[in-house]
Amino acid sequence: MSTVRVAINGYGTIGKRVADAVDAQDDMEVVGVTKTGPSFGCEMAVRKNFDIYCTSDDPDMIASFESSPFKCKGGLKDLLSISDVVIDCSPGKMGAENLGKYQDAGVKSIFQGGEKHSLTGLSYTSCANHSENYGAETTRVVSCNTTGLSRTLVPLYEHCGSLKVECTMIRRAADPGDSKKGPINAIKPVLKVPSHHGPDVMTVKPEIEINSLAVAVPTTIMHVHAIIADLPEGHGLSTESVIEMWKSSPRVIVMNGEGNRITTTAEVMEMARDIGRKWGDLHEIFVWEDGVRLMGNRLYYFQAIHQESDVIPENIDCVRALMEIEKNWQKSVKKTDDAISSYYNI
Ligand SMILES: NC(=O)c1ccc[n+]([C@@H]2O[C@H](COP(=O)([O-])OP(=O)(O)OC[C@H]3O[C@@H](n4cnc5c(N)ncnc54)[C@H](OP(=O)(O)O)[C@@H]3O)[C@@H](O)[C@H]2O)c1
Repeated sequence: MSTVRVAINGYGTIGKRVADAVDAQDDMEVVGVTKTGPSFGCEMAVRKNFDIYCTSDDPDMIASFESSPFKCKGGLKDLLSISDVVIDCSPGKMGAENLGKYQDAGVKSIFQGGEKHSLTGLSYTSCANHSENYGAETTRVVSCNTTGLSRTLVPLYEHCGSLKVECTMIRRAADPGDSKKGPINAIKPVLKVPSHHGPDVMTVKPEIEINSLAVAVPTTIMHVHAIIADLPEGHGLSTESVIEMWKSSPRVIVMNGEGNRITTTAEVMEMARDIGRKWGDLHEIFVWEDGVRLMGNRLYYFQAIHQESDVIPENIDCVRALMEIEKNWQKSVKKTDDAISSYYNI
């Protein structure tokens, strides 16, 4: 079978990571990435041998590359004309404008969590609803927080058959490369209650009853979730068996915090840098083993989310779903993760 031709529209925090992850696979290839103009980031695309296109078809914007060292091969239309699927990694809320362009070009599309579910009417997480996305024209890979919640809650739901969840999202204020956002010396509650994060899980697994609160805190390196899940009577689980369940779930790392001296997000990120993935990324959700406790039917736990990277491998599985390459989500996850590991030699 020929490789799937993937366009990356928006080569920023998420786009550059998705491009590398696509490049790591043997069943898909990057046919081009887009930038608004010749700026920081283009050099990396050149080093990776990715063709650069402009996010726009406006001749003036395309011409802005002419006085730079970076060759722009054309506008978005030109890129779409040689693509099978586009992964939209533009800043949130630009999706509505872009979706029409993809549809006009007859190209399948994958959006990110900055867009609303209503844009596509379909959302995606590898472990929750890969098969529902099989062959779809357009979908949305849910946000980093929703992805993180799905990774630990879906296996629990699959075991229990029902689940009621309350969680508090302790959110990083900004990405490390973002100098515009805050707070820098305050804790900012999200006053829209419940926050959108928990209910967003229901776009991929409607059977899980979930609500959330959120606060933003002055850190750039990870989100932390404090989760309380009520399991149904007769769940048959113990603290130990829940931990074992997550240890055998893909893209979840369970580690003893005190024993390994990984008691904060700072050490989790240091461990991620040690693993050797580019940018110090951690695609997996990190659960503190000693922070898991099942008391009767009520389960308490904490998990940490590397906001810039947990959604990256999900985008790859999502390409396989839309392009009908692999129906079995576990097989896709394994193929994706093995390819990324050998790409970075880890
Ligand atoms: N950052 C995270 O932690 C995170 C986590 C999960 C999901 N997401 C979601 O992922 C999406 C992308 O976020 P991001 O953090 O990667 O944003 P970002 O770092 O700001 O990057 C956005 C990229 O889109 C380009 N762009 C600007 N206008 C565009 C347009 N009209 N069409 C196409 N591309 C355009 C920008 O070009 P220039 O480089 O030329 O400016 C930039 O390369 C959002 O939906 C966000 O909510 C982000």
